[in-house]
This record gives sequence, C-alpha cells and structure tokens, in this order.
Amino acid sequence: MLYIGVDLGTSAVKLLLMNEKGGIEKIVSREYPIYFPQAGWSQQNPEDWYRETIAGIKELVSECDKSQVAGISFGGQMHGLVILDKDDNVIRPAILWNDGRTYKECDYLNNVIGKDKLSEYTANISFTGFTAPKVLWIKNNEPENFAKIEKIMLPKDYIAYMLSGVHCTDVSDASGMLLFDVKNKCWSKEMLDICGIKESQMAKIFESYETVGTLKADVAAELGLSTNVKIVAGAGDNAAAAVGTGTVGDGNCNISLGTSGTIFISSKKFGVDANNALHAFAHADGAYHLMGCMLSAASCNKWWMDDIIGTDAYAEEQKKITKLGENHVYFLPYLMGERSPHNDPNARGCFIGMTMDTTRADMTQAVLEGVAFALRDSLEVARSLGIKIERTKICGGGAKSPLWKKMIANIMNLKVDVIASEEGPAYGGAMLAAVANGEFASVEDAAAKLVKVVDTVEPTPELVAKYEERYQKFKKIYPAVKALFPEIA
Ligand code: XUL
Repeated sequence: MLYIGVDLGTSAVKLLLMNEKGGIEKIVSREYPIYFPQAGWSQQNPEDWYRETIAGIKELVSECDKSQVAGISFGGQMHGLVILDKDDNVIRPAILWNDGRTYKECDYLNNVIGKDKLSEYTANISFTGFTAPKVLWIKNNEPENFAKIEKIMLPKDYIAYMLSGVHCTDVSDASGMLLFDVKNKCWSKEMLDICGIKESQMAKIFESYETVGTLKADVAAELGLSTNVKIVAGAGDNAAAAVGTGTVGDGNCNISLGTSGTIFISSKKFGVDANNALHAFAHADGAYHLMGCMLSAASCNKWWMDDIIGTDAYAEEQKKITKLGENHVYFLPYLMGERSPHNDPNARGCFIGMTMDTTRADMTQAVLEGVAFALRDSLEVARSLGIKIERTKICGGGAKSPLWKKMIANIMNLKVDVIASEEGPAYGGAMLAAVANGEFASVEDAAAKLVKVVDTVEPTPELVAKYEERYQKFKKIYPAVKALFPEIA
C-alpha cells in the first residue's frame, strides 16, 4: 500500500509518497505566494494551497500504481484562520501563524480576561499568531465578514475538507487555536463565548491518526484515485514533524528549522509551565507535548541570502565561515516579531557589534548563530522546569546544513541525531495515514519501526564553552533594545 503525506507549509506544500515499509517513493514540492499587506501582517489564499496540493498529488502519483494509494494525511502550518461562508466560499485570505496584527486582542485576552483564566480554559495564554485573537480581530475590524462565518478551520483542515467534505480537525492543531481545552480534548465553551462563536461553527475533533472520511467522488476522479482512499486527520506541522522524526513517547526532543523554529518535547502526561512560556499542546501520538516557537528561523537565512546579499549558493556562503564559536557580530532574529519566549510582536531583527573588519561571512555566521541562540532561549525555559534533555532530532530545510547542525549542537549543548530524511511533517503525515490504515499498532509503533538515526552531531567541550560565553552576551541584547521596538516598529 502507498500513503501520501501532505506538509502544508508557509512557503510551499511538500508532498511525500511512502510505501508500507516506510520507504520514500517520491517527494514533490510546490510553492505559493505569501502576502504581507502591512508591516507585521501575513496572509495566504486557501485557494492557492488547494490548487497546488491537487497539482502536487497528481505529480506525486503520476508514476505509481494508483490503486495502491490507501490514505492521505497531513502536517499543516498551525494557527492560521480560515473562514468559510454558508456556500463554502473562503470569506477572506487566511491570517497566518506569524501575523502580528492582533496585539490589541491579545492584550484584551491576556489582561482583561486574564492569563489565569485562559490557562485554566485552554492550558495556554494568547499570542498574536493564535487563532482566537484573530477571530476577535475579524469581529472588531471586519464585522461584515464576521457575520458571514459558517465554518472556522485551520489550514490543513481546509484541504481535508475539500478532499473529504468533512469539517474536521485534530487535537494537536486544535490546541493552537486558544479555543480548545487541551487537557480534556474538547472545545472550550468559555473561550467560544468570549470570542462570540458557536460550537456548530467549529470542526469535529479527531485524534491525529483517526480517519475522518474518504476521498469525494469528484476529487477522486480528478486525481485518478479510488473513492476508498482514507483521509486521515493529521497534525499541526510540529506534531507531524515529531512523528516523522520519532519524537513520541516521553521526554524526547525535536528541533525544526523551517520558516519558524521550534523546540518540541513529547510528554506522556499533560503539563503546563507556571508562566505559560511554552505552549502546552496535545500530541499526534495520543499524548501531549510542550513547545517553544520562534517566528523566523530558516527564513532569517533565506532573507539574508536571497534578499540582502543576493545569492542562492547557501552552501558556498557557509563554506566561508571558518571560525566557529568566534564572532564579534550578533543578530537578533526577530524579523516577524517574536513568540517564544518574549511574546513581543514589536520585536525586530538587529545586527549589533560590527566593526570595519567585519566580513560578509561574519554576518552570515551571526544570522545562523542568532537563530540557534534564540532557540536556546526556549530550551532554557524547559530546563528551568527540570526537564532533562541531552539529545534532539532535527528536521526542516535548515537541517540540510551540516554547519547549522554543528552550531545547534554546541550552542544548545545537545547531541543532535540526524535521521535519513529531513522531511519531518510530510513523512509524519504519511505515517499517520499508515497507522489509520492498520499498518502499525500505534503511532509509537510506527515511529519505532520506521525512523532510523543515521548520524549524530556531538557537541565538543571547547566549542560549547566558547558558545556559552557568547550566549550569555546574546541574552543581554534583547532586554537592552526592547524599549526601542514599539517606537521603530
Ligand atoms: C507553531 C507555529 C509554527 C507554524 C509553522 O506554534 O506557529 O511552527 O506551525 O508552520
């Protein structure tokens, strides 16, 4: 049997065809635009996602025995707000996870409703990218659109709906809406009331490895696939990536270096940190996880390479970096504001420390290091909770760079386990589809059988010491410049 994993990302949809033994038969990627209509705003058209997903599936299955395709599942960019009217038309462009427009609504939720109440109802507090403040923003700023809302959904769930006709979501992605009672895995009546929405507008909730329906006849005909193909709920991209890297069960860690950067810690038990600095979400394996999320990770390097120095030779640029651990330049990677741990939509990117002898390589190095230092900020929150992490998996576009992996290992003082493919969410999606079809007893079973570590990047004492000194300096930069950001943002 064959399984399709769809990773509905921010820059592109990545699709992967996996056989029942876990072998990757084909990978396809198709890009779509992202729009920044105002500073700090970030939108995409759900119609673009669907068009490219359909084109991608066609390309993916063009050479295989189509009768063997048994299931499709997803990893999807989280938190995005997709709203449909009574005729299933998309009412307005989706507002994405890295959109910072909802700072007033977040202020209302966190400070008028209160963080304690939010945490009691949902296990989380409000961040600008989360879905509930976006619903409030529509209510406050686009009342005519708010009045038309029939269905509220997340990005990958829009694709699942278009493929199956079922208005569904999964527990991991629902966790990031701030409308979901994570501990009890149901919609929070209190939060729905606060946002002025009804439960009938919300999707039906599934575990990530559960089947929501089958392929609609018209779509099956268009794709040349059977109407028996199962559509499986899938997961938020980070939970799907964790499945794809075998980060399931208790106390395991995965770092994702995609458009966003995340540190993900799986946990058998539900738990929330006292300050809600980390997100407390349900996991795709049926349990829970904690997660820190930075809004710009590999996207900082992409911005620096493509837009600023104007090259697509990323590896060549990185070859010029010869003095690991030594650099007088620092970079704050807050190009879209920052979520974890600062929760500051006004934060901005900065270089600091340049002198007349600073080179292009020093600045490239500072960008890569700045992302790793900022991820360490979230790791330190986890460490402060007494969570002991000695090793991590890694995935995402940034994980292709051996140099970046070495920086991560030494800046975070973690052993970095590398697996065969860095396509975390797409592979995780395909695994979830295989679990739903009975190929494996559970998500943990699939992970144990399919995910193999092929290499480990070990930190070295000398580099760890050098980077420790530099991290202590990095940590002082944000508090020192923070007060300027609201003025210049
Ligand atoms: C997680 C988050 C991002 C997106 C990226 O909370 O906002 O990692 O899921 O696609």
